[in-house]
Amino acid sequence: MVLPSIGALVVAILVLATAHTAPDAAGRASLSPEAANGLVVWRARNCVACHAVYGLGGHVGPDLTNIWRRRKPEALAIRLRIGGNGMPNLELDEAEVDGLLAYLQHLDSLGTYPLPHLDSPAFGVPAGRRP
Ligand code: HEC
Repeated sequence: MVLPSIGALVVAILVLATAHTAPDAAGRASLSPEAANGLVVWRARNCVACHAVYGLGGHVGPDLTNIWRRRKPEALAIRLRIGGNGMPNLELDEAEVDGLLAYLQHLDSLGTYPLPHLDSPAFGVPAGRRP
């Protein structure tokens, strides 16, 4: 049966081609290639030394779990490019900035911090100083 196998091949190619961005069973978007680049930069530049995600990480700067919904992308890009207010200028190039912005957008799409049922100082910033 040649025709069904060709059909199966087409389906397999479509599934592979969309695997990067298609939502999973829970409806969550997986990492786009650009956000994946941002994650590489995030790790290489050790952003987590100063920034937490879901309350885990450094507290020199703000928790970045939902920073995407709190600021305009242009404002985030400026911070990433030139630093300021305690954020160092890491001399990131434009591709790194774009990747980090995509990664921050992805993080924001996954959920909200603090988690209502884990709203405890043990999971991050003490009450009254929420991110
Ligand atoms: C040495 C500590 C330090 C490191 C390392 C650092 N940051 Fe920051 N960052 C800060 C501080 C402090 C601020 C707060 C500046 C302000 O008030 O806007 C900040 C602010 C930010 C903001 C803006 C937050 C806002 O409220 O608008 C973003 C986005 C950000 N950092 C992302 C990153 C990323 C991504 C990295 C890694 C590439 C990184 N930071 C590395 C300390 C750091």
